[in-house]
Amino acid sequence: MHPEHSMTSFSSAVEASIRGSSARTLLKATTRDLHERVDARFSMSGDSTRDGYRNMLLAHARILPPLEEKLARSLHVRSIPHMDSRWRSSHLREDLRALNCEVPTPMNMSFDDAAPSVAGIMYVLEGSRIGSGFLLKQVLRNTQEMPVAFLSHGREQKLWPSFVAWLDAEPWTEDDRLRMRESARSIFSAYLEAAERTSTENQ
Ligand code: HEM
Repeated sequence: MHPEHSMTSFSSAVEASIRGSSARTLLKATTRDLHERVDARFSMSGDSTRDGYRNMLLAHARILPPLEEKLARSLHVRSIPHMDSRWRSSHLREDLRALNCEVPTPMNMSFDDAAPSVAGIMYVLEGSRIGSGFLLKQVLRNTQEMPVAFLSHGREQKLWPSFVAWLDAEPWTEDDRLRMRESARSIFSAYLEAAERTSTENQ
């Protein structure tokens, strides 16, 4: 088989499987590239000193508080199970206070207040708990004690599985799934920008 032809068949096979897949599978497959970049920026690159940790929290702090503030006013979050247990801005602020850091200027996190867009945003926020679990282990291994209210938030509550179960049970249309993917990608990009701004300002 000609190599180009085999490549085309492969990508159309992937496209087709994504089209028929669950919303979560679609989101995972179509944001993988951005997740890899975010993971690299937020993993503190082996820098688990107080400064590395503080910068990671500061980057989150540019996004999470303005986003949660807007999400809290959206009717669409109300159908997500255990929504009252998902908010984490106050935990982030608590850690920053303990580290004597001011909350940075929030980024403009306006979004299209429609059910699929909100689902895409929540996918990124809830998925970030998985990365937080890894970071928490890394931070707890550190000899320096750090405040971990944000990273350890909701550890015992299975918030990620209950979110995914909800996401995959909703009757999304193809158009909804496209909007969801766009909104998830834009939130991942906002995280990359927040990390960039944090490192530029702290140079
Ligand atoms: C230290 C930084 C991070 C690490 C080490 C990390 C690691 C991981 C790992 C291992 C998974 C599971 C992937 C799988 O099931 O194959 C995951 C999932 C995920 N992470 Fe991260 N992550 C990090 C940061 C973030 C951040 C900051 C965000 C959001 C802004 C994020 C969003 C997600 C999402 C949405 C998923 C779910 C993917 C799925 O549908 O399974 N991660 N992460």
